[in-house]
Amino acid sequence: MEPARILLTIGGGIAAYKVPELLRALQKQGHAVRCAATPAALRFVSPLALQSLSGEPVRTALFDPSEESEIDHIRLADWADLVIVAPATADLLAKMAHGLADDLVTAVLLATRAQVLVAPAMNVNMWTHSATQQNLETLRSRGVLVIGPESGELACGWEGAGRMSEPADIAEAASLRLGTESLQGHTVLVTAGGTAEAIDPVRRITNRSSGKMGFAVAEQAARRGARVILVAGVTSLTTPAGVVRLDVESAAEMRDAVLAELAGATIVIKAAAVADFTPEIVEEGKIKKEGLADQSSLVLRLVTTPDILSEVCGLKEDRVVVGFAAESDNVVEEARRKILRKGCDLMVANDVSRVDAGFDVDTNAVFFVTPDGEVEETGLLSKQEIASQILDRVEKLQGERLE
Ligand code: CTP
Repeated sequence: MEPARILLTIGGGIAAYKVPELLRALQKQGHAVRCAATPAALRFVSPLALQSLSGEPVRTALFDPSEESEIDHIRLADWADLVIVAPATADLLAKMAHGLADDLVTAVLLATRAQVLVAPAMNVNMWTHSATQQNLETLRSRGVLVIGPESGELACGWEGAGRMSEPADIAEAASLRLGTESLQGHTVLVTAGGTAEAIDPVRRITNRSSGKMGFAVAEQAARRGARVILVAGVTSLTTPAGVVRLDVESAAEMRDAVLAELAGATIVIKAAAVADFTPEIVEEGKIKKEGLADQSSLVLRLVTTPDILSEVCGLKEDRVVVGFAAESDNVVEEARRKILRKGCDLMVANDVSRVDAGFDVDTNAVFFVTPDGEVEETGLLSKQEIASQILDRVEKLQGERLE
C-alpha cells in the first residue's frame, strides 16, 4: 500500500514542542509526513529537528523563492491526503474560519481539498471564548475534524480545557481517518476467539483465547473500507463499528458459519483458537458423579475437529487466506511446517508462552511466515498495530495477484 501523505501544519503555541513526537508517531504508522510551520511556531520547535525527522525542509514562507522552487504552496496543498493542524491556536482557528491566507500555513489550509484535522491548544479562557467556539462550529460545519483539547494544568498556569491532545492520540485519529479505502470492494471474513466444546448441557471445554487479536483485525479491516464478517467464538468483547458479527460456540458451528460465508469473501483471516478436540459424545443430561462406574474419575473420549483452515484453503480460488499459529516451542519451525500443511498465503505465528504476547493481553509479538519460508519478526506491538500490519501484507498479496 502506498503510504498516506500527511501535511503537518504547526501553529505558534507552546504545545508545538510536542510536534516532533507526533511526527514520529505518524511515521511509525507508515505515513509520509511533511511539515509547514507559522513563523511563530518556530519559536517553540526547532526546524532542524522537524527537518531531520521528516527528511524534508520545513516550509514557513509563502513567497520565498528557494522554498517555492522546491514545491510551491499549491502543490503542497494538493500533495496531502490529510492535513493536521497541531497545535491549532485560537488565531489559526480564527483565520481558518474566515478564510484568511496571509502566510504559508493559512494559504495551504485554504487551498487544500484534503481532510483537515485540528488539534486545538490554548489558554482555557481563549478556548471557551464564544469567538473561538463559533469559529470552531464554522469549521466543523465545513467538515473539519477536531481532536481535543484535553483538560488539565496549562502551560500558562491556568487549569482547564486547553491542552493539546497527546501525539499518539492525534496520530491514531489521523490513521482512523485515512485508512478508509484501501480494502473497499473486499469482503473480509475473520474468525476470532476460542471455541467451546460441549461435554454436557452445563460443561464446556474451551481455551484461553480472548478474541482480541481477531477483533482488532476485524476493526482495522472495517476502517479500511472492507465489508467485514466476524465469526466470533467465546469472547466478551464488543463488536467493532461497521462489522457484521456471527456468534458461534463449537468448532463445528464455526466451520458451518465460515463455509456459509466463504463464497462472498475475498479475504479470510483465521485468528480463532479452534479446539482441536471435542467430546465424542455430548451427554444430553448433566453428568452426575453418582452415575459414574468409577466415582474417582471420569473418562472423556475426545475426537479431532474438522480443520477449518485447511478446508478453506482447499476452496481458496483467488482468495487471500491468512492462518495463525499459536506455539509454545520452536515457533518459527512449527509455523513453517503448518503453512505448508494447511496451504494458506501467510501464517501469523506467536509464542504463547510469553506473558506480554498472545492470550488475553493487548499486545502481541508475532512472526510473519510465508509459504517459501521467509520470516519477519514484529517485536512487541499493540494488537491493533499487528492487525494493521497483517492487512498491509494482505493488500500486498492482493496487489501481486492482480499484476
Ligand atoms: N484451525 C482451524 N481448525 C482447527 C484447528 C485450527 O481452522 N480445527 C486454524 C486456526 O484458526 C489457526 C490455524 O488453524 O488459524 C492454526 O491453529 P493451531 O491450533 O495453531 O494449529 P493446529 O492445526 O491445531 O496444529 P497443532 O495441533 O500441530 O498445533
